Amino acid sequence: MPDKKFSVVIAGGGSTYTPGIVLTLLDNLDKFPIRSLKFYDNDGERQQKIADACAIMIKERAPEIEFLATTNPAEGFTDVDFVMAQIRVGKYEMREKDEKIPLKHGVVGQETTGPGGIAYGLRSIGGVLELIDYMEKYSPNAWMLNYSNPAAIVAVATNRLRPKSKIINICDMPIGIMDRMAKILKLDSYKELDFDYYGLNHFGWWTAVRDKKGNNLMPQLQAYVREHGYILPDESGTEKSWRETFEMAKNVYALDPETLPNTYLKYYLYPQEVVKHSDPNHTRTDEIRLGREKFVFEECAKITESGTAANSAFKSDEHASYIIDLCRAIAYNTKERMLVITPNKGAVENLDSDTMVEIPCLIGANGPEPLAQGKIPRFQKGLIEEQNSVENLVVDAWTEGSYTKLWQALSLSKIVPDAGLAKIILDELVEANKDYWPELKIGRPEPVLS
Ligand code: NAD
Ligand code: G6P
Ligand code: MN
Repeated sequence: MPDKKFSVVIAGGGSTYTPGIVLTLLDNLDKFPIRSLKFYDNDGERQQKIADACAIMIKERAPEIEFLATTNPAEGFTDVDFVMAQIRVGKYEMREKDEKIPLKHGVVGQETTGPGGIAYGLRSIGGVLELIDYMEKYSPNAWMLNYSNPAAIVAVATNRLRPKSKIINICDMPIGIMDRMAKILKLDSYKELDFDYYGLNHFGWWTAVRDKKGNNLMPQLQAYVREHGYILPDESGTEKSWRETFEMAKNVYALDPETLPNTYLKYYLYPQEVVKHSDPNHTRTDEIRLGREKFVFEECAKITESGTAANSAFKSDEHASYIIDLCRAIAYNTKERMLVITPNKGAVENLDSDTMVEIPCLIGANGPEPLAQGKIPRFQKGLIEEQNSVENLVVDAWTEGSYTKLWQALSLSKIVPDAGLAKIILDELVEANKDYWPELKIGRPEPVLS
């Protein structure tokens, strides 16, 4: 392997995921050597708390790595090979509104799906395009691996508005589910599995799961999921809302016994059930404030105060190793088969060529090469085309500043039962997002509902 050392910037350095990524980078320096690591964020104060702790982690394990945390795009994006993007435009304050506004009206309130996902999409598009523009200005040969959500809408936007840019939009949910599949099968890692999968981001299905010898493992997995969903025998460390999601996969699976579903389909196929299990005053954002966010910032403070990360509780995980594996695949042109979001270009025969599908691709120095997934059944095709239209309408609304397109997006979403209700929710979201959304023009004639 060539002995080049790489320069990485984490955009969204203040993210709760940053210490895990840094730790995993440090664990993998033999496979992916780093000479420079930078954090970039537009909230310097939040980022600094993470950076102070990470500086200690780096100094203890690999003092030769140059480390810098900045809010200056020129500093952050100059001389980098990879941008790992994970921004949350509007932060948790706005995620809370995405969840609580729809839920108040009896509609699913969720980070990446339905009205909440649409609202987040309209905030994220500009933020992610800005990162691409910084990358192309200061490091035109770099690649961006983007986790920033809602990845489905962001992918449509980046494909339409920056079609030549070197960005790959990615998601950790299929990896997380495959990790569960591996445990169900009593294997050590999801990397022991080969698979076929198609869909949009947070909207897909496995059509094959095999071991490395080519043996078909679907029947065994389906028999398990039919009974337990993706719930594992020991879920003592799993938060309540995630436990419900993994359990609900059983009901999603029941709709198509030929495949295995992504957990996010529950929001589209069982929205009423989801609302029934939701508390409009205590949503996922509240859980995270008391859970992941609190843990990460307390742990960073402990490291900074004690001056050592030797006893840190941070752990490496699949979320972090996946983005590093992608960097490696590009850096060393490995053509590893990985799941990413990419223009369809005929890979799913009966979907439009420009649909941003999530499918297995060979990843190399020139990006993803999509692998053919054949024709998909009518049920999935219908669902995907509807959802893809929603996501494209959101991008239309962003580019045209069109209220009507946005109202259409909410009304078309399978999660919203009625166009009148869509308008009530939309008007509250417009008000809540006025610092983040483009100004929306109302088409003529003005919509009047009685
Ligand atoms: P977080 O709020 O802890 O961190 C996000 C950081 O982004 C904050 O420090 C914030 O200041 C910064 N930020 C916001 N807007 C910015 C901008 N325009 N420019 C630069 N920085 C900006 O959020 P988190 O929970 O750690 O999640 C981070 C992101 O990763 C979210 O978008 C989340 O949805 C996404 N995520 C995606 C996946 C996936 O499967 N694709 C998995 C996990 C997390
Ligand atoms: C999975 C999804 C991400 C999503 C996250 C939400 O990892 O793939 O896209 O952001 O779940 O998790 P949270 O703990 O923030 O609710
Ligand atoms: Mn995801």
